[in-house]
Amino acid sequence: MSDTSQGAAAAPGPVTVRVPAKVNVQLAVGAPRPDGFHPLANVFLAVGLYDEVTATPAPELRITCTGPGSDQVPLDRTNLAARAALALAELHGLAPGVHLHIAKDIPVAGGMAGGSADAAGALLACDTLWGTRTPYAQLLDICAELGSDVPFSLVGGAALGVGRGELLTPWQVGGEFHWVFAVADGGLSTPAVYREFDRLASGTDVPEPAASDALRTALRTGDATALAATLTNDLQPAALSLRPSLTATLTAGTEAGALAALVSGSGPTTAFLVKDAEAAGRVAESLLASGTCVAARPAVSPAPGATVVVKG
Ligand code: C5P
Repeated sequence: MSDTSQGAAAAPGPVTVRVPAKVNVQLAVGAPRPDGFHPLANVFLAVGLYDEVTATPAPELRITCTGPGSDQVPLDRTNLAARAALALAELHGLAPGVHLHIAKDIPVAGGMAGGSADAAGALLACDTLWGTRTPYAQLLDICAELGSDVPFSLVGGAALGVGRGELLTPWQVGGEFHWVFAVADGGLSTPAVYREFDRLASGTDVPEPAASDALRTALRTGDATALAATLTNDLQPAALSLRPSLTATLTAGTEAGALAALVSGSGPTTAFLVKDAEAAGRVAESLLASGTCVAARPAVSPAPGATVVVKG
């Protein structure tokens, strides 16, 4: 993996980083570890819905946020983007004098790693703004400390995540896949969905999570029909248990001709794999008309990881 710093000197600013959403094309979940986290075989695929994080020099750390759902995003130091800036500043012995503006397009609390995307974006934006040239492996370590999905937001493409999802091995993708994402009204709490997974699994033997070879082949060959046959999400029953109305959304997309339908990560966004861009338009229209979601967003995968798009 390469060094991501894009020049020796600090940028005067602003620096804008674009970061993709993700869908989990396999999410195999094991029984909780002693630390409470669940061992995963988590196949991430980055999709072309993006948040943008802009870093500008400021007297002190400040966060602003615009876009759909931005009123639910905390603007204090609990925000993952703020925590990313603080971690990087501490590593280099700098004052975290930065204004981070988050332009949201990824559904908030939607199971598409929006908060993780903002953390990875803030990290890369601050590293570029401050000229700190942090080695890529060290950026990945900071990401892993911030959250299980954050390293993937930096890397993008497709990758298998094991451990609690943070230990990544890139996977090849041999073509474009077309999706529609149905945005639900309100979010779901990831810890609550994992707790519901544990409740539903109690008294059963939960197998060790293992990555699917058939899925790996489907991604490598760019075969959407084969991918549709292998999509799995062990958190789906838990998400549906907490939000039964999602079943109607899944049915609406399937009846509209999607190749496959599943909950994205911990939900409540639902993901529909479709044949091509034309099918995406049709399925998105039907989903909206069904009244079972508040927005239906076509998107293409794979997408690149966090990328500097403006360097002032
Ligand atoms: O790692 P992250 O902070 O994003 O995780 C949010 C929550 O999701 C954790 O506090 C935990 O409740 C749950 N989680 C889990 N097992 C994982 C990843 C997340 O139980 N592998």
